[in-house]
Amino acid sequence: MSIRISPDPQVHNAEMPDPELNAAGKSRAVREMFAEIAPTYDRINRLLTVNIDMHWRRFTVNKLKDVLSRPDAIALDLCCGTADLTLEIEEHARVIGCDFCHPMLVIGNEKLSAKHARNALLTEGDALHLPFADASFDAVTIAFGLRNLENVQCGLTEIFRVLKPGGRAAILEFSRPVIPVFREAFEFYFNKILPRIGGLISGSRSAYTYLPRSVRNFPDQKGISAMMRAAGFTDVCYHNLLGGVAAVYLGNREI
Ligand SMILES: C[S@@+](CC[C@H](N)C(=O)[O-])C[C@H]1O[C@@H](n2cnc3c(N)ncnc32)[C@H](O)[C@@H]1O
Repeated sequence: MSIRISPDPQVHNAEMPDPELNAAGKSRAVREMFAEIAPTYDRINRLLTVNIDMHWRRFTVNKLKDVLSRPDAIALDLCCGTADLTLEIEEHARVIGCDFCHPMLVIGNEKLSAKHARNALLTEGDALHLPFADASFDAVTIAFGLRNLENVQCGLTEIFRVLKPGGRAAILEFSRPVIPVFREAFEFYFNKILPRIGGLISGSRSAYTYLPRSVRNFPDQKGISAMMRAAGFTDVCYHNLLGGVAAVYLGNREI
């Protein structure tokens, strides 16, 4: 299962609006920002997290193994970007990766082809208006995407809508370290060091100052759990990763 996505001639390199300052047009600003950093996105992720991000994605998929092992299971990986999580899921079940940033999908599709990933396909779509019928998927995932949505609560409601009764959502997102001294050290790295390295390699300093700001302005572990419950999820829980630098949130749709 594989589709080709051709390079988009309309990739913008022009001055980018700031996604945080521009709440009403956040979707457009986010899409343009990821279009600009797409070519270096994977390299910077590996460098800035010393590869830990790949372990986090694997941990996320492990929490879905029972639903992914159902006969004919199908998963949706939202905000799939360059398809790292899609590829992890693909080892267990059929999966559709969905993102609204064409240049990220082009790179993702090259990775799918290189790995002969026959259980996965990528499609262009907006997480806030998904082109899928109600109750379509056994599992829905979103890694480092929820924070970027123009309306987080609407995003959660949309995830719940496309999940089958008996299905499970897994959300991987940056969060707040819970251990005080570690928190201060991490925040120094995240706010001061990371934007310089990310900016130098990608050529977009603004994208890597947006990252820590967007995490700061995002609800913490308890806040996201409450929003998931409000969207209809049951059995909501979370697992802190690396002392809360990131967290995986799980929620079920009741049968
Ligand atoms: C930080 S990247 C994460 C990519 C990937 N999931 C990963 O783990 O590396 C966030 C992605 O979310 C996508 N995104 C943000 N808002 C979106 C929306 N409303 N609909 C679809 N994709 C969106 C961006 O285009 C970008 O590719």
